[in-house]
Amino acid sequence: MFKLVTHNRHKFEEMKKILPELEMIEMEYPEIQANTLEEVVDFSLEYLSGIIGENFIIDDSGLFIDSLNDFPGVYSAYVFDTLGNEGILKLMEGKTHRDAYFKTIIGIRFEGINYKLVGICHGKIAEEPRGANGFGYDPIFIPEGKEKTFAEMSTEEKNKISHRGKAMRKLAGFVERFGIQ
Ligand code: IMP
Repeated sequence: MFKLVTHNRHKFEEMKKILPELEMIEMEYPEIQANTLEEVVDFSLEYLSGIIGENFIIDDSGLFIDSLNDFPGVYSAYVFDTLGNEGILKLMEGKTHRDAYFKTIIGIRFEGINYKLVGICHGKIAEEPRGANGFGYDPIFIPEGKEKTFAEMSTEEKNKISHRGKAMRKLAGFVERFGIQ
């Protein structure tokens, strides 16, 4: 079965709920600064394939806020570590247009070939942080059609509608199609 290369245990726990056989390689790796998540994933897959001698997957995600011209987007990790959710809410002060989306790219290295699977979840930025579950921007993101933030949902609830859940169900299809044990 695939191994997820990450240092983010939350991601692994969400993903394992959809693909129980998934394993994890705990590792932090350098990410290039690029204009798209896809480019970051392409680079990381090539970089890691030189280190990891077996099939693996990675997850690169970002939060894209409409009225901030898609910021933090590819800078999501850095912005979370520096400004955090409070910083994002400050930037959103007075803004009535609060549409945003999360995007996940799952990068796959399988038998020497790279694949990418995408998952997107539309929603909006909350007025204040709510909830204690999940991680990262979960307390300030309300998915479309819901009242609760991701951080007010169980992992199962989040997975049903989330960017990562959608990409993971594609991965489950990939695993089945290629008969990966
Ligand atoms: P990366 O995919 O690890 O580069 O994540 C970029 C940033 O987005 C990090 O600060 C993560 O905490 C955050 N992030 C990634 N996925 C999610 C999610 O599903 N919910 C909330 N924040 C997330």
